[in-house]
Amino acid sequence: MAIYPPEPFRIKMVEPIRLTPISEREAALKATGYNVFGIRAEEVYIDLLTDSGTGAMSQEQWAAMMIGDESYAGARSFFRLKEAIQEIFGFTYFVPTHQGRAAEHVLMGIKLKPGQSVPSNMHFDTTEGNILSRGAIPINLVIDEAKDPTNNHPFKGNMDLNKLKDFIKKVGRENIPIGMITITNNSGGGQPVSMENLRAVSEIYHENGIPFIIDACRYAENSYFIQQREAGYKNKSTLEIAQEIFSLADGATMSAKKDAIVNIGGFLAMNDKHLYDEACQALIMKEGFPSYGGLAGRDLDAIATGLREGLREDYLEYRTGQTRYLADKFLENYIPIIEPPGGHAVYVDAGRLFSHIPHEQFPGFALSVELYREGCIRTTEIGSLMFGHPDPVTKEMIYPALEMTRLAIPRRVYTQSHLDYVVKTISTIAQRKDKVQGYRIVEAPEFLRHFTARLEPIK
Ligand SMILES: Cc1ncc(COP(=O)(O)O)c(C=O)c1O
Repeated sequence: MAIYPPEPFRIKMVEPIRLTPISEREAALKATGYNVFGIRAEEVYIDLLTDSGTGAMSQEQWAAMMIGDESYAGARSFFRLKEAIQEIFGFTYFVPTHQGRAAEHVLMGIKLKPGQSVPSNMHFDTTEGNILSRGAIPINLVIDEAKDPTNNHPFKGNMDLNKLKDFIKKVGRENIPIGMITITNNSGGGQPVSMENLRAVSEIYHENGIPFIIDACRYAENSYFIQQREAGYKNKSTLEIAQEIFSLADGATMSAKKDAIVNIGGFLAMNDKHLYDEACQALIMKEGFPSYGGLAGRDLDAIATGLREGLREDYLEYRTGQTRYLADKFLENYIPIIEPPGGHAVYVDAGRLFSHIPHEQFPGFALSVELYREGCIRTTEIGSLMFGHPDPVTKEMIYPALEMTRLAIPRRVYTQSHLDYVVKTISTIAQRKDKVQGYRIVEAPEFLRHFTARLEPIK
C-alpha cells in the first residue's frame, strides 16, 4: 500500500469555507466570462487556483512578524533576511521585491534589449510576459520527454542541452543577455531539474559568457526531488543540495510566495555588483528603498523564517506525498494527468480528457469551468489560453504541446478529505465528459490574457 506521510503539524486556527448552491455558481461563471480568476474567493469551496501566497504560515513565522522592524532604511528585518538568503542561496547581493514578477521586471528591464532572446527550460507566464514586454523573445528548451504526459522521467524539468548549444550557436551569444532555468518547471507540470542538468546548463552558459539566472520559486521542492531521485544525493540535506544548486548560478529571481510559505514577497539576488547597483536604482523608482523593496519589515522576517522552514525534510516529505496522493487517486479513477506528479500541483491532461475539444477552444479552460460548476473548486488553465500566441513572423497561431488544468495545492492548508472531495468531483465530470463544450474568447488583453479574458461557451 502506498504511504502518504501525515501532516507534520496540527491545526491551531481555522477559516470557514462554504459550498455555494449550483445556481450561484452558474451565475458567478456567467458574470465573470467563465474566467474563474474573476470569481470572489468566498464563492469558492476548495481553492486550487494557485499555491502562490496561499500557504498557511507557521507559529514561528507569525512570531517573527511581531518582531518586524519597520524602519524605512536598514531595518533589522532586512539583515535577518539577508542572512537567510546568504546561507541558502549564497549570492553576494539581493534586493527584496513585492513578489516574483517584480524581480523579473527589474531584471528584464536592466538586461534586455528588443530582439534579444532568453532561453530557459520553460519560462513561467509572468517571466514570459516580462521578456515579451521588453521586445525580447522567451525561448523554451525543455527535454522532449516533458511533452509526453505519460513518460515517467524523474527530471522532466531538465533542459535539452543539445538544443541549448544549437540555439546559442544559431542566434549568437551576444544576443543572449541572460540564460535561465525554472526550478521546478511550473509551466511543464511542476517537474524538477536534476543537479547533473543544472551543472551542465551552467557550464554551457558560462562557456558562452552568458550570466545564469535561476527562477527559484520552488527551490526546496526541487532540492527534495534531487535528494530522493538523483544518485549521490540521498545522504545530503536539502539545505546542502540547495546550496549546491545556487553555487552554479550568477543570480536568482524568487517568488517567496511559494517555497518560503509567505503570503507576499520575493527578491532578486545576484553576484554582479553592477547589476545590483542598477537593480537598486530601478527598485527605488518602482518598488521602494533597497532594504525593503515594496514589503513591510514584518514580511521580510516572515520570509527569512519561511525560507528555512520550507527546506525541512519532514515537511517536504508530507508536501510531495500530498501531491502524490491526489495524483494516485486521479490515476485510479482514469483521469489522465502529467506523470509523474510534480511538487506543488497535479496537472490534468485536459487535452486527453476532452479529446473532442481542439486547442483553439481551450480544453484546459473548459475543465476549470466544469470543476467550479460541479464542485465549487477553483483551478487554472495552463494551455492555449495562457500560452497560445501568434508567430511573430507568419502570424499563425502557435499552441503549446499540452493542454492542462492545474490543481495547485496550497501549502499546509487542505486535508486529505478535501482532496477526496476533489477526486469525487472530477470523476463525476469525467462520466459526462463528451457533453462538455469548448470556449471562444470574447475579449482579452495583449499580455497575460488568461488572468482577465472573458470567454463564452461554443454551443
Ligand atoms: C515559476 C514561477 N516563476 C515566477 C512566478 C511569479 O511569481 P509571483 O506570482 O510572486 O509574481 C511564478 C508564480 O506562480 C512561478 O510559478
